Amino acid sequence: MQIITTVNRMKEYSRKASQNGKSIGFVPTMGYLHDGHLSLVRAARKECDVVIVSIFVNPTQFGPLEDFDKYPRDIERDKLRLEGENIDVLFLPEADEIYPGGCAIEVKADNSISEVLCGAARPGHFDGVATVVAKLFDVTIPDKSYFGQKDAQQTVVIERMVKDLDLPIEICVEPIIRENDGLAMSSRNMYLSGSERAQAVKLFEALSEAEKLIKGGEDSSALIKEKMKSILAEGKDIEVDYIETVDANSLRSVEEVGSDTFIAIAAFVGKTRLIDNILIK
Ligand code: PAF
Repeated sequence: MQIITTVNRMKEYSRKASQNGKSIGFVPTMGYLHDGHLSLVRAARKECDVVIVSIFVNPTQFGPLEDFDKYPRDIERDKLRLEGENIDVLFLPEADEIYPGGCAIEVKADNSISEVLCGAARPGHFDGVATVVAKLFDVTIPDKSYFGQKDAQQTVVIERMVKDLDLPIEICVEPIIRENDGLAMSSRNMYLSGSERAQAVKLFEALSEAEKLIKGGEDSSALIKEKMKSILAEGKDIEVDYIETVDANSLRSVEEVGSDTFIAIAAFVGKTRLIDNILIK
């Protein structure tokens, strides 16, 4: 595994690989890697000749009151995990490599997909994500790039960016990886205290109940959301940000759950904001 820290060196590597006819699989991450990230790396390893993983905690996707400074970082542990995955390159830039002149120009996602759901509570977040991913795509020139379904709204924004900017990149969305009790893996789970960790599983329980109701023939969003709310209310430190049923492509709210509906939750468990979702096919 080569470690590359500069944009020039990374571009040179990717261009050479491309010219030699190698397919490039790219997994962008913010580090503190868990099995969810590794499932993306494994999918890339299976499908591409060259696998590039980036670790960059992107400042432009954090609001001024968010956890940029305390976002978990452990590069040595991440390197060890990636060494076991037989990747080709770890791209590890500093912020001034990615934003040498600041960030005066951004990729701006349409409000209909960037200011709903998580975007309502995190204004500018998805523009920051789209901007950094566009920059990372420019440097790594991937054929395929891998994202987790846990960040469902992020995948919709990135898919639209690739489509609308005509980027020749296939976006591969991989299933959510869960702990044994169902909690979706996330770097932010490490913020949870013991009691919060025990309550956090309620997000999965609420989604599982929704799935059960839908399998039983229920399609009323209002009723499903009400039931989910009552399950989340059992956690004394849980404060719901949103429970939504949306069309999986447009992210528009739906009154009736049908095929291609995301059921999505964001909730604070203590001070930690967690998200989770299921896709109804
Ligand atoms: O999902 C993430 O970890 C980040 O949003 C990403 C895609 C690496 C961009 O910073």
